[in-house]
Amino acid sequence: MMSPPSIALEKSFSPSASASTSSSGFSRCGSQPLVIKTQFDRLVDDLRAILGPASGIDSESVDVDSLINLMREYTSQIAEWAPFALSDPSRNYTRNGIDEVNAKANLLILVWNPGKGSMVHDHANAHCIMKVLQGELVEELYEWPEGTNGHDVASLPLHMKKQTNLPLDQVAYISDKIGLHRIRNPSPDKIAVSLHLYTPPWAAKFGCRIFDDRTGKSSKADMSRLYSYRGKLLNYSQGGTSHTC
Ligand SMILES: [Fe+2]
Repeated sequence: MMSPPSIALEKSFSPSASASTSSSGFSRCGSQPLVIKTQFDRLVDDLRAILGPASGIDSESVDVDSLINLMREYTSQIAEWAPFALSDPSRNYTRNGIDEVNAKANLLILVWNPGKGSMVHDHANAHCIMKVLQGELVEELYEWPEGTNGHDVASLPLHMKKQTNLPLDQVAYISDKIGLHRIRNPSPDKIAVSLHLYTPPWAAKFGCRIFDDRTGKSSKADMSRLYSYRGKLLNYSQGGTSHTC
């Protein structure tokens, strides 16, 4: 029996009954609703504008610097994104969908339980931009297993070439050209929350690869399932995954 979802908060906060990226600060003027967008709403709008319907979907055509700058310009405000940050305490981390960005990307909020992390993984030939929304995360950057794209390698431990602390509001970028990585929450007692943009959305469509850091051996991971979407809990059997790219 799974426990019900909980909002990932350190402070008290009551999400609106119907969470939506455009329903924050709702008031009425006559019969017309007046929607006051939060900075988080604007960030999602701006990401959609850069990754517009007319833009290319190929990873080579993505304006990565503009996407990184947008993520940097946003200052995390817990009340703005908390309605979308559901957390399952039984998992290492919980994947919550926010937007599909004109079918060009996947925008997710990940909630990391204290002391927990991901497997080492690749990014399915896509760009990954992540921003810390709460707490702190650590990125361990690994070299690809020698002579390979992850298949049929010698049984050798992966080589970690860099470890980076990512404090609140820090933005990090990775692609398969840079290497593999693992993300973890170093805190023994506090959750961490991060915003992830994956473009193109190849991992959700085709999966990514996870790696055993002791042997370099890899296996395919299904990345299509989410725990919630735009603040609404999905069927739990659809959300059951323990991996992230
Ligand atoms: Fe990743």
